[in-house]
Amino acid sequence: MSPNPLAELIRRLPELRVLTEPGDLEHYGRDWTRRWTPAPLAIALPASIDEVQAIVRWANDCNVALVPSGGRTGLSGGAVAANGELVLSLERMNRVLDFSAVDRTLTVQPGITLQAVHDASAEHGLLYPVDFAARGSCSIGGNIATNAGGIRVIRYGNTREWIASLKVVAGNGELLEFNRGLIKNSSGYDFRQLMIGSEGTLGIVVEATLKLTDRPLPSQVMLLALPDMDALMQVFALFRAQLPLQAFEFFTDRALHHVLAHGAQRAIDGEHPYYVVTEFDAVDEKTQELALATFEQAVEKGWVSDGVLAQSDAQAAALWRLREGITESLAPHRPYKNDVSVKVSAVPAFLHEMQALLTHEYPHIEVVWFGHIGDGNLHINVLRPEDLDEDAFIAQCEHVTKLLAATLKNHGGSISAEHGIGLVKRAYLESTRDPSEILLMKGVRKVFDPRGILNPGKLFTDG
Ligand code: MLT
Ligand code: ZN
Repeated sequence: MSPNPLAELIRRLPELRVLTEPGDLEHYGRDWTRRWTPAPLAIALPASIDEVQAIVRWANDCNVALVPSGGRTGLSGGAVAANGELVLSLERMNRVLDFSAVDRTLTVQPGITLQAVHDASAEHGLLYPVDFAARGSCSIGGNIATNAGGIRVIRYGNTREWIASLKVVAGNGELLEFNRGLIKNSSGYDFRQLMIGSEGTLGIVVEATLKLTDRPLPSQVMLLALPDMDALMQVFALFRAQLPLQAFEFFTDRALHHVLAHGAQRAIDGEHPYYVVTEFDAVDEKTQELALATFEQAVEKGWVSDGVLAQSDAQAAALWRLREGITESLAPHRPYKNDVSVKVSAVPAFLHEMQALLTHEYPHIEVVWFGHIGDGNLHINVLRPEDLDEDAFIAQCEHVTKLLAATLKNHGGSISAEHGIGLVKRAYLESTRDPSEILLMKGVRKVFDPRGILNPGKLFTDG
């Protein structure tokens, strides 16, 4: 082992771009959680798979932990480097490598942004359908590492459904290729799927072939105001039965308050406790009439109190902003975040229990919820009151998360729907996964990363 690992890295890879300035360490050492103080050893920005492999071999030889890093828009601390790790940023590996019209696939490097993937797919008249608000800055490698979901899961599913093949550098530096773009491949274990959602603990994604699909049909966007919580799932059931939904998202009046304060435009007057933004295929007048009839039915039943149907692309974008702008509008408050899910059928009962729990446990604390209710996925953002110091606030939120985890367990839910476990939720992993399953995960990790150099401390405490 070298007494100066960084000097050894530079000796082995003189061409490698390495950053050590304090500003860079801070920038690359943290993600959107902002809870940990970044303290990486250095930042490496490889430009090729060969360089990634050489860095991983160096990390093994010099016993330095690596934190694979994409756009760092993660909300669970999965890309935080606070313990002298080397941040391995894939941001320079951001190109489209190939497109196949016959296979309908796009092969990309991991550092490409989701937006650039959307644009490249659109240039070929096709769609990569995973989509969410951080599209402009998150990277496809990070999306794969967390099995990112987002706003169109009810139509298209999670990232997992859209990966045709992966090239991965394992923890020993070996380059592995999984599935080779096959649609049908019934030949044993699917390691591609094992990599997706593994949060950088099994391997570093260095290339991905993405499946593409038809561009969506013309659509319409509607904003609905709802009088109470029970109406949420009633409206969802009605709309899903009658309209070809692309998205069905909800938020509360508190979320609306923040997003309006952040510059979004109010679209419905008056006070309403819940809102839904929904988008559905609307190809002709008939489907538009059906949408209005569905809306009227919901109003007659007392499930919807008001609504707006976007009349232009600009208005549709303004309605979407009310939902997609929430995370950004809350960011200055550095909220404590829960990202939970239950089966859609369990949502009504879970919502009641959860609301009672939050009201009881956070009597004087503002709690903002919103999310992908059509997938059974809720985002709970807890805002720290100014007079409560950060440590006491986090301790209180951790206590409530324990209770929430128990409630989720009773309802068969998950403590992380789409943000990953990272550092933020590793203490609660057992509420979602059996101890025997966690042991299996740790065993799998040993196979792919025998020395535990890939993102140690994320997902679970030891290697
Ligand atoms: C979103 O859906 O906007 C984010 O995943 C949620 C969050 O910021 O908690
Ligand atoms: Zn989300």
